Amino acid sequence: MDALEKVLADADAADIQAIIFSGDIAGYYYQAQEVLDVLRQRNAVMCRGNHEDILCAYFDEGAQGREAIRVRYGSSYAMIEDGMSDSDKQFLSGLSHPVEADYDGLRFLVCHGAPWGVDDYIYPDASEDVLKKLESYSDRYDVIVTGHTHYQASWRIGDMVVINPGSVGQPRSGKVDDSASQARAHWAIFDTDDRSFIHCESLYECNGLFKQVDEFDPDLPHLKNVLKRREAAA
Ligand SMILES: [Fe+2]
Repeated sequence: MDALEKVLADADAADIQAIIFSGDIAGYYYQAQEVLDVLRQRNAVMCRGNHEDILCAYFDEGAQGREAIRVRYGSSYAMIEDGMSDSDKQFLSGLSHPVEADYDGLRFLVCHGAPWGVDDYIYPDASEDVLKKLESYSDRYDVIVTGHTHYQASWRIGDMVVINPGSVGQPRSGKVDDSASQARAHWAIFDTDDRSFIHCESLYECNGLFKQVDEFDPDLPHLKNVLKRREAAA
């Protein structure tokens, strides 16, 4: 939530008019309720992420399956199950993918993984085949927003822009340095006037998040270490 608050403050300073969120409110960390509340207050367009799929699976799992999910992705799902209202749980588990939106006459397709699948990855080094597949959407959309990889990326395919703003809560391109207390949050600004965009990075104080990991998942140091990664590995 500290990361999102900093991003929203920076976005407000840039006078942004609308917010697009491309999935994964659930998973890894602990303030899904607050994130959901803020995004709805701001009328963000939201699509489903694979972690909303995992949340639905979690609800149906027994103790052993739940623990397997927790060990990999943290206590987020348990906190949603225990702390969120039934209506919010239904809202989160019922999010759609992909979602269409219109801004200033431009047709957006908001995806998590890819237009053809919530859990399909489009990495910055996407193959020609993947780019060709994306091109097949260019007669219907001006902008495709993706996510899921946790890496910022963008392509221009004809007049269509495909943009992955990266991850607010868990970018995989790393913390400032191992001794610093600030982490990076990634996002992007798109200008509908001229179809230009910029990739953005906000720095936020991450000790609060690290304390939450220590409190709720003390046996899962990877939830902190992933924020320190600098290399562009998958
Ligand atoms: Fe994802």
